[in-house]
Amino acid sequence: MSSPANNESTVSQHAFAYQPQPINGEFLGKHIISVDQFERRDLDILFDAATSIRKRIRSHDRGLTELCAGKVMASLFFEASTRTDMSFQSAMRRLGGDVIAVSNGVRFSSMYKGENLSDTIRATGCYADVIVLRHPEIGSSYEAGYYLDLLNTRIDNPTVAISGGDGIGEHPTQALLDIFTIYDRKKSLDNLTITLVGDLKHGRTVHSLAKLIAYYDAKNVRLCLVAPESLAMPSEISDLVKGHGIAVIETEDLVDVIAQTDVIYWTRIQEERFADPDIYETIKDRFIMTPRVFAKARSNAILMHPLPRKHEMGTRVDHDILDDDPRAIYFEQMENGMFVRMALLVKVLRGVYV
Ligand code: NCD
Repeated sequence: MSSPANNESTVSQHAFAYQPQPINGEFLGKHIISVDQFERRDLDILFDAATSIRKRIRSHDRGLTELCAGKVMASLFFEASTRTDMSFQSAMRRLGGDVIAVSNGVRFSSMYKGENLSDTIRATGCYADVIVLRHPEIGSSYEAGYYLDLLNTRIDNPTVAISGGDGIGEHPTQALLDIFTIYDRKKSLDNLTITLVGDLKHGRTVHSLAKLIAYYDAKNVRLCLVAPESLAMPSEISDLVKGHGIAVIETEDLVDVIAQTDVIYWTRIQEERFADPDIYETIKDRFIMTPRVFAKARSNAILMHPLPRKHEMGTRVDHDILDDDPRAIYFEQMENGMFVRMALLVKVLRGVYV
């Protein structure tokens, strides 16, 4: 997708000074901008709500559609998306809410006439109770939080922002669904070795997930970061994780850690984030998950991926060793995304127990 008309930075200095409110056990009316807002008890509240919502969907509980009845979610995606966009839309509809978007896609929004992000956000905030924003610039969701706080003092119907990913910054709701999936499968985060593989420099999902694992403060967790040096996890994130008492092992070779790993989290090399396509070409084949690599993993390991996948993990991985390898759980992970996003929408819009 090409960028909005004037191609100038859309993020103001306000964004960089803006501090989203910590959740502190109360989600109602709060923007969801960074995983830095969360601590263990907030995650436990969300895990319980997502588990309960999943149970209610399985039992065809019609009461779900009352939880966000009358609420409107605006979907503002300035980058490509399948899962984040559709899971939020589906979540809102299953809760009885409505979804709006620019009729012919954001390419036909006024951003493409040169409108700035803060005006677009405030315009959207006049019509919606919640805005899900995905934008290529780091800090764009902070910009949304800052300007919605200003707007909310002036209009009747306050609006919250939820980040669907800000460039190479963060992807908080993906990390929430990822950590929920780990917790759900392993029943605890204690004593786990979690290995993140691939483009740890540009991958916003792994930035948010590494921090959330740290904030959960589980016992005896090891985090292995497997990436070529040029795509290593930013040091401020690996230092933060270490500061929470987690043993961090950084290596360029998966073989060093795969046999000790409980959770393997594979990622795509983020081609669209490379300024120089030649550099992408030289690095793109460094980590390829194949059935032969997967055979080295434990029988009770789980393999996750935020998807989309390209050549870094072929579809044979799910099917080659067994007809349908139960260790490859990315589609369950994806469905969990809808449950977690339902839980989040209910919590920020209604604050009720589900
Ligand atoms: C990820 C993203 O957009 O950051 N996808 C997603 O939301 N499920 C990962 C990616 O694009 O590689």
